[in-house]
Amino acid sequence: MKVLITGGAGPIGSALVPGLTGRGHRVTGIARSPANAARLRDLGARHVRADLFAPESLRSAILSCSPDIIIHLATSGDRQCVEGTANLVEAAAVAGVRRVIARSAAFAYSPTSATVSESAPLFVDSPRPMRRTVRSYAALERTVLADPTIDGLVLRFGTLYGPRTLFSAHGLATLRVLRRRLPLVGEGRGWFGFVHVDDAAAAVIASLHEPTGVLNIVDDEPVRTSKWLPSFAAAIGAKSPRHVPARLAGAAVGTGGSLRYFFDQQPPVSNAAAHDVLEWRPRRRPCNLGVQ
Ligand SMILES: NC(=O)c1ccc[n+]([C@@H]2O[C@H](COP(=O)([O-])OP(=O)(O)OC[C@H]3O[C@@H](n4cnc5c(N)ncnc54)[C@H](OP(=O)(O)O)[C@@H]3O)[C@@H](O)[C@H]2O)c1
Repeated sequence: MKVLITGGAGPIGSALVPGLTGRGHRVTGIARSPANAARLRDLGARHVRADLFAPESLRSAILSCSPDIIIHLATSGDRQCVEGTANLVEAAAVAGVRRVIARSAAFAYSPTSATVSESAPLFVDSPRPMRRTVRSYAALERTVLADPTIDGLVLRFGTLYGPRTLFSAHGLATLRVLRRRLPLVGEGRGWFGFVHVDDAAAAVIASLHEPTGVLNIVDDEPVRTSKWLPSFAAAIGAKSPRHVPARLAGAAVGTGGSLRYFFDQQPPVSNAAAHDVLEWRPRRRPCNLGVQ
């Protein structure tokens, strides 16, 4: 297949591009910076310069490689999700591209004590600043699934670990844990659905042809913050995390309501649909969370 990818130099892309080229697919990656262009070439992709916020450049990029499929991974920012996705899907539809796979997040479900599947409501009324992030992912999903000419698939990835992620050797979460600046919030009852970047890439490869809709891509076993955070700290030689009451979490680390949600409220997420539909099985387990 001819594949056009955004975010190909990022954490999932860096595992995905070699996986695709190794299977004989021809991959072209969109990036703006020379550094990411060079990285895409090192990974085995061709590079085309385009900007998600410049629709004309997207049309040119698509025309230059006439892809069978677009894989949209550059979605870690609100503007990328909302404006970038709208521009990309519109350009894809005009060019007659039939399939788009886009990256969303599995850490945006409303708090509940039950294990949630893809039909559970997203936390669109969460406190700021998280509300904006959740609504941006919801907008991305609507855009990808709404166009009747496009077979859209949304992959809701869990919290990534592995190379180039927040949990890599120099990743932000790792550095914060080492400095004891990532506290255990409340009782640490929030459930994390981690997923290794290699497993995330394998899920994309398993979905190149079908299905449409929404799938959670998380490890088999969700793990509570009260379990993984102290274990991770010990694994990287950090002191035990401090404890912070839930109501003070925002003030303690300057992230408003987000950290309270992630560490004390987010529900466990099921990957049963991905098991069934993709026949995808994560090969890593959360106990492998550590410095890569
Ligand atoms: N599921 C999760 O755990 C999750 C979710 C979100 C973020 N994160 C974390 O956030 C960090 C950043 O994620 P990421 O690297 O995937 O970030 P990203 O900004 O979504 O993706 C970066 C890639 O996208 C390209 N890109 C960004 N904006 C673009 C634009 N306007 N037009 C065209 N290309 C654009 C970049 O190239 P150019 O800049 O050269 O254009 C680069 O190749 C990582 O540590 C990740 O673990 C994690």
